[in-house]
Parts: sequence; C-alpha cells; structure tokens
Amino acid sequence: MPLPKAELHLHIEGTLEPELAFALAARNGVSLPYADEDALREAYRFADLQSFLNLYYELMAVLRTERDFEDLANAYLARAAAQGVRHAEIFFDPQAHLARGVEMGTVVEGLWRALGSSRENHGVSTRLILCFLRDESAESARETLDAAKPYLDRITGVGLDSAEVGHPPVKFREVYEAAAALGLRRVAHAGEEGPPEYVVEALDVLGVERIDHGLRSVEDPALVERLVRERVPLTLCPLSNVRLRTVDTLADHPLPAMLDAGLVCTVNSDDPAYFGGYAGDNFDAVRQALGLTEERLRDLARNSFLASFLEDDEELRAR
Ligand code: ADE
Ligand code: ZN
Repeated sequence: MPLPKAELHLHIEGTLEPELAFALAARNGVSLPYADEDALREAYRFADLQSFLNLYYELMAVLRTERDFEDLANAYLARAAAQGVRHAEIFFDPQAHLARGVEMGTVVEGLWRALGSSRENHGVSTRLILCFLRDESAESARETLDAAKPYLDRITGVGLDSAEVGHPPVKFREVYEAAAALGLRRVAHAGEEGPPEYVVEALDVLGVERIDHGLRSVEDPALVERLVRERVPLTLCPLSNVRLRTVDTLADHPLPAMLDAGLVCTVNSDDPAYFGGYAGDNFDAVRQALGLTEERLRDLARNSFLASFLEDDEELRAR
C-alpha cells in the first residue's frame, strides 16, 4: 500500500504522456514533429527550465477539445491514485491554450468533467489552480483572470509559473490583488531557477500561502528562518530538479537539510510525464537516494495534507 499523500504541485499539461500525445494528435489531425513515441521520449533531455518549457508548450498543440482535457485529467488521476495520492491540487496554464484559440470554457469544463467525479471514480479529491505565465505581460494575466470569472466556482486559487528569471513576482502585484479580492487562494513558483529574493517578493508582494519549489531559499539563512517561523509550505519536486538541472543528482538534493532546518516541505511531481515519475515515484526516489527514514516520509505525507487547501474535515477524510 503506497503512503497516502496529497499532491500540491502538478501541472496537468505536464502529465501528457507520449502515448496520449500521439493518440490526441491522431484524433485531432495534428501532426507532431516526432516520428513516434520513442523519438519523442528522446527529446526529454533538458538543459534547464526553458528547454523543457519549449517542448511542454509545443506538445500542448494536441489538446483541443473538452474531451482531450477530460482524458488528460482522468489519465493523471488514475496514475496518481495508484501511487497513493488522495488529494490533488492541479495547476493549469490557460494562456497557453487561449493563445492557440482554445477557449477558457473548453479547458475548465473539460478538466472538470474528470475532476468533478474524481472522488467517486478515483478516490482522489481535487482543487484547480489557474496559473499565470510569468513570461507573458501583466495585462495578459489580468485578461486571463477576467476570462476565468464565469468559472470561479471551479477554481480555488491562482499560481505563477513558466520562465522565472527576469520575471519577478512584483510584475503580478495587481492581478494577485484582484485574485485575492475574488476570494482566490494564492501560490507562486519562486526560487526554482530564480534567486531567494523572488521568494521574499512572492510572500510580501503577492501574499502567497505556499511557495512552489522554493529550493533556492536555502541560499538565504534569514529567509529560511522566516519560512520556518511562519510555517510557509514549500512544494518541492525532486525529480524535476534533477531533470532541469537545478541540482546535480538526487543525492545532492537539499531536502534532508531543509527538513532538519524545520521547513515545511512537501514532495510532488511537477510534470511527471517529462521528469520520470509521479508523486509516489518521487517519494521512492528520495527514500532511496537520500536515505529518508519511514518517519520522515510520513512527515512529508502529513505536511502535504496540512499544506493543502482542504477544509479540516475534508483533510481528515482524505488522510
Ligand atoms: N510549467 C510547468 N512546469 C514548470 C516548472 N517546473 N517551472 C515553471 N513553470 C512550469
Ligand atoms: Zn511547477
């Protein structure tokens, strides 16, 4: 029995496995510039975040209809459930779809076809988090939030993702204020490739409740002390960090030191189709590479529920 856990850092578009990518390409008459699934898998060698993002956005071309988004989410939920995920807070990137002429309603309603029945079908409760692309303009983020207004009953929060360096959190101050006024929860990627200052800004300027990644926080002892004191959860993604070369090898990952320092760490998969593993695979990988004890792994799983946006009673049922 895999350890029950919540997944708090998962991009639904990053769960697009090569098999499904080719099936959707055929269904939608989209041609992919790869001969077959193996050739596509060969492209999964990344030098950094940007080289991954290039492929991630390219493959989204196959996602066109509500049914595509439904199939994508159902495939993820089935895999996650098999690895012990009981609750998933799922990011999506509407700007990447709107730019291709796929409407907000197609994306949200398609995802919802799977998420709305996920408890019954997969035993996994869910939340949906709309991410703004930080390498697009603040105006575009604002328009995206406006486009999401008819669907806010389906959306729990907002996040910030895509190319980090050069796109500090402060750029999105106004749209985060607007999101807060709409009652949305707030998270942001920070300190993945960007400096610790971006983590501070995400907290102070955007008012986020969790930091996605936050890995580079360890470079700033005062920041670490603050994150510990304020019990700010970090949604770490160890296999992602190796594939995107923010750490050299898994054995070099600072997770054990971060736990020793008292940080509220969680372990997540980020873009599992691209990075070689789902939530349970990430747990297995850190256990093996870092020698984490069963107690530590249970702490990580417990943190994942505590750091989730579940209400107290829901949280206890999910555990
Ligand atoms: N979008 C999908 N995965 C991402 C990551 N790891 N960092 C930033 N943006 C992303
Ligand atoms: Zn991410």
